[in-house]
Amino acid sequence: MFRERIRNRELLERIVSADDAARLIKDRMTIGMSGFTRAGEAKAVPMALAKRAKDEPLQITLMTGASLGNNLDGALVEAHVLARRLPFQSDPVLRNAINAGEVMFIDQHLSETVELLRSRQIAPVDIAVIEATAITEEGGIIPTTSVGNSASFAILAEKVIVEINQSQPQELEGLHDIYIPTRRPSREAIPVMAPDSRIGVPFIPILPEKIAAVVVTHNSDSSSTIQPPDAETQAIAGHLAEFLMHEVKLGRLSRSLLPLQAGIGTIANAVLHGFIDTPFHDLTMYSEVLQDSTFDLIDAGKLIFASGSSMTLSADKYRKVIPDIVAYKSRLILRPQEISNHPEVIRRLGIIGINTALEFDIYGNVNSTHVGGTHMMNGIGGSGDFARNAYMSIFVTKSTAKNGAISRVVPMVSHVDHTEHDVDILVTEIGLADLRGLAPRERATTIIANCVHPTYREALSDYYRRALARGGQTPHLLEEALKWHSSLRETGRMLA
Ligand code: COA
Repeated sequence: MFRERIRNRELLERIVSADDAARLIKDRMTIGMSGFTRAGEAKAVPMALAKRAKDEPLQITLMTGASLGNNLDGALVEAHVLARRLPFQSDPVLRNAINAGEVMFIDQHLSETVELLRSRQIAPVDIAVIEATAITEEGGIIPTTSVGNSASFAILAEKVIVEINQSQPQELEGLHDIYIPTRRPSREAIPVMAPDSRIGVPFIPILPEKIAAVVVTHNSDSSSTIQPPDAETQAIAGHLAEFLMHEVKLGRLSRSLLPLQAGIGTIANAVLHGFIDTPFHDLTMYSEVLQDSTFDLIDAGKLIFASGSSMTLSADKYRKVIPDIVAYKSRLILRPQEISNHPEVIRRLGIIGINTALEFDIYGNVNSTHVGGTHMMNGIGGSGDFARNAYMSIFVTKSTAKNGAISRVVPMVSHVDHTEHDVDILVTEIGLADLRGLAPRERATTIIANCVHPTYREALSDYYRRALARGGQTPHLLEEALKWHSSLRETGRMLA
């Protein structure tokens, strides 16, 4: 019964239909919605907004935690509701609209959005729309499968619409840890001392007067789109495990390693899954998205605690984990994304960060976002928050894409998200390049020897040899450096 979930009795009188709640949203407003990598997004109000926009012109700036599920971004694009969108997305319809210049997309480090809002450096949130499993007696909002930016959106917005989702178990209460950093320049240290530190309260603290409408919903989260591990991702996991075992032998790491972060997507999920077959034990995670592999590792007895900002699961895993959340709750925390991704905490804990590259170059610069240097894929997400501040910053990728037509190791990346200064280790199914303490010329030989697919190795060596003849700290043939990309655009292949 939804009534028992709305524990502040006065708020029962503010229950309205999604259509009525959506009417609070006016043309040109900035809306902050819950939702982080397809988990815990507000579901009914955005759909009602898309429906309304068919009859009246309505354009908004939409901020979320990260990507939305239930095809919401696509529906909002098709209804021409989105003028501006930040800080991350992964929807194919929205991606096309961004690349056509129809939606202005601001690709942001995920830890930064609410800092910018709080200091009024970007337009304020007019209305927050937050999915909740319940509302406390005092009006506190208990989120569902993600926290993302929801807490600060609700605190900073003029008004809040709460979607009570009856499909989410009430036992999610107690999973979240909401902490809002104090104001700068005299901010106190953020007291996360370990992945399992609880430093806040289990609900978003706002006054009930701020809640302008409550909508009751039933739809579950969309399942994640990750593919199962394959031979290449298993090989990547194998190289990484061997390397980390070597670090253990050298006495630099224990068999519990350091808190792990793993990025979104198929490859990072598969690589983390590969830790099941390693001698590592008592692992912990301090990450952003908890994917299937987190729960596989918990079930296998390898992982003892995971901190994140959302749970993004395949359909099978969702069916297993969500109804059984009580069994997992003592091993999990969901935090605001500015805390899960906070540079201060990442530095303090000494995170091993594992993120995925679309491509990297012979010096170790990484492109995670722009296909062919121009077209947005998803966004930088939290990869920059972790890469810059990690104890060890690892990027994984398959050595080729599109049946070998594309080499993911190139002379020069066509767009830079992570510079060579932020990248310690690169891994493909071919092998691993340990770049720590190496100068650019040493990085190039290590990367070419270890990470490149055999089809492309000679061409890349040839490029590097000829660049070397010209000299420089970071030798290049500038007139040729992006030729592989232009050849791909013209012929569909990087090399003839
Ligand atoms: N050029 C063109 N297309 C490429 C490519 C390249 N260099 N490299 C990969 N692709 C294509 C693949 O072919 C695949 O397309 P398909 O689905 O049509 O076959 C798609 O990109 C995804 O590739 P893949 O790398 O195999 O999958 P993934 O699910 O692991 O995603 C990223 C990789 C980079 C797209 C994803 O990790 C991402 O968006 N990262 C940025 C955000 C981030 O790192 N967040 C981390 C903190 S959570």
